[in-house]
This record gives sequence, C-alpha cells and structure tokens, in this order.
Amino acid sequence: MCGIVGYWNNQKNALPILIDSLKKLEYRGYDSFGFVTISDSKLYVERQIGKVSSVKCRDLPGIVGIGHTRWATHGKVTETNTHPHRDCTNTIAVVHNGIIENFQEIKSSLIEKGHRFLSETDTEILAHLIEEDLKFGMSLKNSVMKTGSLIKGRNAFVVLHALTKEIIAFRNGSPLIIGIKKDSNEIFLASDIQAFLDKTKEVMYLDDEELVLIKENPEFYDAKNGEKIEKRLISIAGEVEESQKGDYSHFMLKEIMDQKETIISAINQDDLEIMHVAKEINEAKGIFFIGCGTAARVCHFAEYVFSHIANKHINFITASEFENYKHFLLPETLVIAISQSGETADVLEALEVAKQKGSKIISVVNVSNSSMTKISDYSFLINAGVEKAVASTKATTSQMAITTLLAYACAGKLREGDRVLVDLAGKVNDMLNPRYSEHIKKLAQIIHKKENILIIGRGLNYPISLESAIKIMEVSYIHAQGFAGGELKHGPIALVEEGTPVIVLVGNENTGEVINNAIEVKSRGAYVIGIASKNNQAFDYWIKTPNTDEITTPIANLIPIQLLSFYLGILRGHDVDYPRSLAKSVTVK
Ligand code: G6P
Repeated sequence: MCGIVGYWNNQKNALPILIDSLKKLEYRGYDSFGFVTISDSKLYVERQIGKVSSVKCRDLPGIVGIGHTRWATHGKVTETNTHPHRDCTNTIAVVHNGIIENFQEIKSSLIEKGHRFLSETDTEILAHLIEEDLKFGMSLKNSVMKTGSLIKGRNAFVVLHALTKEIIAFRNGSPLIIGIKKDSNEIFLASDIQAFLDKTKEVMYLDDEELVLIKENPEFYDAKNGEKIEKRLISIAGEVEESQKGDYSHFMLKEIMDQKETIISAINQDDLEIMHVAKEINEAKGIFFIGCGTAARVCHFAEYVFSHIANKHINFITASEFENYKHFLLPETLVIAISQSGETADVLEALEVAKQKGSKIISVVNVSNSSMTKISDYSFLINAGVEKAVASTKATTSQMAITTLLAYACAGKLREGDRVLVDLAGKVNDMLNPRYSEHIKKLAQIIHKKENILIIGRGLNYPISLESAIKIMEVSYIHAQGFAGGELKHGPIALVEEGTPVIVLVGNENTGEVINNAIEVKSRGAYVIGIASKNNQAFDYWIKTPNTDEITTPIANLIPIQLLSFYLGILRGHDVDYPRSLAKSVTVK
C-alpha cells in the first residue's frame, strides 16, 4: 500500500516525470498524493486529496524530487496527513510505505525534545528523527541507517535533503527498485518497476536492510554496518508490457476480457518444473496453501481440487491466521503462497515464519522479482500480464488454472490436466462475447438497486460463492454473502425476502442438491439467478456457462460474476477500477 517514486537527473524538470511515474502506482492507494522537489536549496511541495491521474498539479521547480500516493493508515484523508512530511527546519522531506509500529513512543520523545508535529501520521517522525541527528553533526547516510534500525514493522522510506540534493532510500519489508538510464544520466526510484519501465529497463533491486544514496550515481549500503555493497544491474527482458485500457472504458473490463487468453498463458509452464513441484507436494509432510482476499479463495478452491483430483489433503489458511498453525511446521512441510502482487504483508510474514521453521516455500505470483519470489525456494509466474484494476479477475482465474494443473500433476495426470484446461480456455474464449456481456448487463439493471445478494454453491463451487461475494461487494458496495448450499437452512435463508437476489452456482455433476436449494429460496420469494450450463425452471434469470469438465466449471462460473460485479458497480456510479478504501497491493498488516 502507498506508492513511492523518486527522480534524480541534472537537467530535466523532475515533476512531469514524477507525476507520470506516480500515475502508474495509483493501484497502491489513491486517497491523496504529494510531491517535493528542490530548487535553490529549498523544498517545493505540492499535496492534494484524490488521485494523481484526476487532479491537476501545480508546477514545481527543480530537477530532483520524490512523490507518494497514499492509502491512509494513520490519520484521516487530509492534505496535512498527505506525504511528503517535513522536519521543523523544512530541509528534510520524507515519503514512506508501511507502518512504524513504535511511532507513538518515538513521537513522544521527539515532542519532549521540542519537535513540532503537523500531521497525525507515523511517517512524520522520520523527518524529525533525521533532523535531530543532523543537528548533532551526523551524516545523512548514518542518520537514515540509525532511523531504519530504530523503527519497528515492515517499512520503506525515502528522504530528500534540500541542501545536499541527495535522495536516500531505506528498505526493510516494502519493495524499492532503482532504474538507471545511463545515456541521459537519469536515476529513477519506485515501489514497483512499472513506474519507470517505459523509461529504462536497467534496474537494481534494493533488498531488506539496505539503503541507496542517490547523487550522480546510486551507491548501495548494508544498513546494518554501513558497508558499501555492489549491486548487479539487471536488464529486464522483452517489450514493456502494455497496461493500457485500449478500447475499453475500464481496466476491470479489459482484464475480464483478457481471460480469453490468460488461462492458456497460465498453464503454459515447463512440464519438468511442474513435475518437480508435484513431487515436492507428494513428498511433503503437511502442505499449506496461504493467501489473502481473493487469493485466499483460490487457496480454498485448491483444497477442493487437490482432494478431488489428487486424493490429497492440503490445508488452506488465510495468511493473516497462519501464525496459529506454525507449530505444525516442519522442515519437510511445504507452504505454497498464492498472490497476484507477491507483496502482500500478511503472506510475507507467514512465509517468514515458515522460513524460520525451515519449511519449503513455493509461490505462485503474477509479478516477477517480487518479495515473495525472493523468499521462495521455487516460484511460478502465472503469466496473466499486468493486472491494474483493484478487483482481481484474470489473475484469479490464472491462479485457479495453475493450481488445477498442479493437482493433476500430483495425481500423475499432467496430460489430462492440460487437456481439460485447454478445453476450458477455448470455451471461455467463446463465452466472452458482446452478446454475453449484454445479457449480464441486463441482469445488473434488474438487481442494481438491491442492498443484499446471496450466493450459494456446493463442493468446488462453494469457494467460488465466497469469491463471488468479495467481487460483488468490492466493486458495487452491495452487501453480498456466499454460502455452502447445505448451510442455507442453518441461518442464511432467514435473509431471503420477496425479491432478494440469490445467485446459484451450479456444477456439471451432482446438480440435484444445489437445484433443491434454488427451489427452497424461490419458495421464500427469492429472485433466483442460475449460473449453469443448463436452464432450470427454478431460475428467474439464467446465465449460461459452458459445459466444461466438472473440475473447471467453477472457473467458468466465476467469469459471469466478474462481469456482473463490473456492471453493478457502473450502474451504481462507482469508480470500479479504484473502489473506495481498497488498494491492489496490501503491504501493511
Ligand atoms: C487486495 C486486492 C485483492 C487481492 C488481495 C491479495 O485485497 O484488492 O484483489 O486478492 O489484496 O493480494 P495479492 O497481491 O496477494 O494477490
């Protein structure tokens, strides 16, 4: 959460480049944004509420600067709480990603020393801590090192000094990447490579407990002992990935449509590597699938798939709850993390616990070189391409496809898995046509004024009902809840009133029980929406899904839900790509 950018060069005005870079990090938070540049040894600051892409910025002079897009943690969404934050002398500016867990005690001691705080943020202590050190003659580098060691939690922060024109960045738990453009002597810095990949593909990754000092050339240091370290310059291969909306009105819609291709890309993995991981899974003593949000629902789906296909019990745990299971971890245990970003704080913390216990780690991520990739013994890329909309769509179905492939590989049926998933990909491709979208839009028009939607599924479709609820809620802000069909009579049915929309996710086998549930809610007045390959008289509205293999039906069933969520959000007038209070990459706990 929160995005950081920095820019150093010796001729161009920094602000347009900072704005351009920050726009690409908006997915990390979009409550407010700010920039600071240096000119004539003075700091120039611009801070505003809202998204950097939708607000016009005042011009700032200077060729060096840093910027920040905020997802508020400490302190309301106000201009005063917006980064950058400055010290009392107005010479040090700081932007920060993370949470400083011990900020209150540090703040109290700084107040006692006479420092004046303007914001409610934890970040502001960084500027004052550095000010305090510099007052006593410490170098900026040593002060940043000291400050980094003093603060608790997962953090990354960047400091700009008005007099020395240096940028110093420190990382411990939140990513920071440096981009170098040698021919024009430009240096970029950001929380995500996407911020500057259109300008340079030569990058250096800052690791935990390291800092980089940017002035002419970037110099890297071990933040524990201050020793200089050499970093490898990595050339990012291939074309800069297209992450534009193209002809689509929204990233979410584009990404839903991308699923015509992404399922195939996801299963386009090296057979030998898949078989190697399958062997690890088969030999492990205890397997945990962990993730957060939508990715946690994929882990839940994986539990069913492994049980059905490979006759294997795997444990699915929401990463934020993993701590409670750590006593089961052995060196022979395997922990598999599912994550689009590879940066989710709760997943990273869970993996650190697993690492301490000596367990093996595999990650299934969309962003290469992410923190999860680094901590893993083995990492799969899901090849979904950049996913920008906060609500995950194509990354989800890609994660489901690759998990399914792994389950088939564990059962010694890799070829069958390939066949089933290729068949699904073809049917998804046919399904995503304008007529289909229109049919779902029509349903959205019927139900968009409702304030409560229930979704039921059984077996493999039960985790999909939970993911459907997430999707509908996050984009439309309609309360939605998913249930196992069998649980309906243990409480949820009491919510059904005349006209309550109930979405029934139907598989391709053993459909009787879930259809009975549909009939039960219909008798109590529900407006029954059937997502199924065949129509049924219990349905008031039928959304046809392709007749796929039973195992892949849930993946196909999720796609109309994604479209429905999108149209509900649009009809209710929401910013569907950037829903309120959410962020794509949740890097704080
Ligand atoms: C946020 C996103 C979700 C995502 C979750 C986990 O809540 O909005 O779409 O599922 O984080 O993110 P990850 O990057 O680990 O998949």
